[in-house]
Order: sequence, then C-alpha cells, then structure tokens
Amino acid sequence: MKGIVFTEFLELVEDKFGLEVVDEIIEKSELPSGGAYTAVGTYDFSEMLSLLTHLSDHSKISIDALLLTYAEHFFKVLADSYPGLIDKYDDPIKLLSSIENHIHTEVQKIYPDAELPTFEVIDKTSTTLVMIYKSSRAMYNFGLGLMNKTFEHYKSSATIILEKIKEDGTEVKFSITKN
Ligand code: HEM
Repeated sequence: MKGIVFTEFLELVEDKFGLEVVDEIIEKSELPSGGAYTAVGTYDFSEMLSLLTHLSDHSKISIDALLLTYAEHFFKVLADSYPGLIDKYDDPIKLLSSIENHIHTEVQKIYPDAELPTFEVIDKTSTTLVMIYKSSRAMYNFGLGLMNKTFEHYKSSATIILEKIKEDGTEVKFSITKN
C-alpha cells in the first residue's frame, strides 16, 4: 500500500483525535516500519489494518465507518493531486465506470507497486451503474466513500447499495443510481 494512504490517514487521525491517539495506535500496532511513513514509500497493507483496528478499539467506531470517513477525506487528496484524471470526465457515472480501464490504469503506470482493486462494470446507463468490486484488502467502504465524494464533486448525489458477494468483503456488488 502506498505511503500517501498512510500519511493522509495519520494526518486525519491527528486532526480528529489528536497527536496522543496517533502515538497510541502506532505504539499498539507494533509496526514493522515503526510508523515513519513517507508519501512515496510502499508499506504492507497489514500495517493499515493494525492502525485501523486500534483506532476502532480506541474510538468505538467500526472499521467500516472509519474507512468511509477516511475515503471522503482521501478523495480531496486525489482530486488535488491528479486534477487531470478527474477533469477529463463531465459526469460521475462516466468517471466511476472508467476507474478500471482508465483511472487506476494510469495510477498503476505512475506507481507500478500500487495495490489496486478491480471494478468490473456489469451494467451501465446514463443514470445507473452496477459494478463488482474485488480486492483481497476488502476496502469496499473506502470505495463507497470515494463514490459519494465523486457525486458531490459534480454537485450531484446517488443512492448506492452494497451487496457482499463474499462474506469477508473481498467481492462486493455496487448498485448505483443517480438521484
Ligand atoms: C486505492 C488512486 C479514484 C477506489 C487507490 C490508491 C491510489 C488510488 C493511489 C492506493 C493504492 C495503494 O495504496 O497501493 C486513485 C486516483 C483516483 C482514484 C488517482 C482518481 C483520480 C478512485 C475512485 C474509486 C476508487 C473514484 C471509487 C470507487 C479505490 C479503492 C482503493 C483505491 C477501493 C483501495 C484499495 C483496494 O480496495 O484494494 N486509488 N483512485 N479510486 N481506490 Fe482509487
């Protein structure tokens, strides 16, 4: 997992919970990296899972809810860092249906070691989109947060239904309807 995902996460934790909580979750996680992340580095996904688990224990907020909030913050980071990728689209459904074939394809070129999910488009109209998310990291709620913010970016909103195809969340169906 790319360092920027860790650095932005810890910044948000500091903002919302304070530096003591950042120190506490880093200490409890016993991280191989020691928690000294750089945005361009690459770290094991298990470190993110440990940090999330300890933050969830501390805050009593579920990992799913933490990932949703974090993704909503991360969208702004992506939009500020890669405006060219987003500005190419004039519509949220077009953008979301192009994650697999364009957006993440470009990300993989920039960061060959990025660990990205797959989003298979099952059905698409101008106002609806059905996609299957697949990833061993089961960060489907991170995807949901990014989708919410994508609609907001276009001053729009959507009803998004998630159905787990696999119980562990490594395969999830997203049914998106623009409001
Ligand atoms: C992960 C880039 C848009 C879904 C990531 C990562 C990067 C990235 C750098 C981290 C990879 C790693 O740590 O190895 C981008 C850029 C985007 C974009 C530049 C737009 C300009 C989206 C959108 C979605 C999405 C709109 C909405 C569904 C995800 C998910 C992950 C992810 C779910 C977590 C990894 C996983 O589930 O396996 N993306 N992304 N991305 N992205 Fe995107």
